[in-house]
Amino acid sequence: MAPRALIAGNWKMNMDRVSSEVLASALAQNVGSVAVDLAVCPPSVYLSPVSVVLGSSGVALGGQDCHTAQNGAHTGDVSPEMLADLGCTYVIVGHSERRTDHGESDADIRAKTTAALAAGLRAIVCVGESLAQREAGETLAVIAAQLAGSVPDADPAALVVAYEPIWAIGTGKVPTTGQIGEVHAFMRAQLRDRFGEGADAIRLLYGGSVKGANAAEIFAVNDVDGALVGGASLTAADFLPIVAALDAA
Ligand code: PGA
Repeated sequence: MAPRALIAGNWKMNMDRVSSEVLASALAQNVGSVAVDLAVCPPSVYLSPVSVVLGSSGVALGGQDCHTAQNGAHTGDVSPEMLADLGCTYVIVGHSERRTDHGESDADIRAKTTAALAAGLRAIVCVGESLAQREAGETLAVIAAQLAGSVPDADPAALVVAYEPIWAIGTGKVPTTGQIGEVHAFMRAQLRDRFGEGADAIRLLYGGSVKGANAAEIFAVNDVDGALVGGASLTAADFLPIVAALDAA
């Protein structure tokens, strides 16, 4: 059975306390009874106020990163247990901005994912090729290596994988549906090799310049189980049409 679809909003390092609460409130009041899972991932300092506003609306809360340790001498870091303590049920791990800005390796991301799952969170593990890698014909090899390196052997139901081509993030450039379909089918096949039929429980999100205007065609692609949305998750007016497109898919 296909897993329940998921849209996660990645607010990145945007918003302030008041605008976070206003957006969370607009989402909580307007998602209605959609048949998809929704999550927002605010900056860690705003998790607590957003959690209060979301209340029992059904919109889940996620972190944008976590450490591998439960606690200890790791200045500036946040543990998965701390995220869970604030009401998070998801955490994004290995976003390309973390891989680039903080030099995170596949091994780091695998360890973070393992720690997140141990804390009871679902992990959204990000993979994706650069433009140079795509132009060199290396896309599937890059994805295979990132999946093998970043995704631990774990309960498939707690795993989400987001395919985010780096060249599509924040650029307005979107792969063709054929290109998305090729990578998603490949990811499913790779995960089936490892997890058997259990791989079908792993939600495969597409991310990179998803908007209301392109959401429906992206969600119609086989093996696309939702989206990880950056820029268009920062206002309810941009985010809700994407939710509606997935709900209708
Ligand atoms: P974008 O970001 O929707 O702004 O392209 C997606 C992401 O980085 O998760």
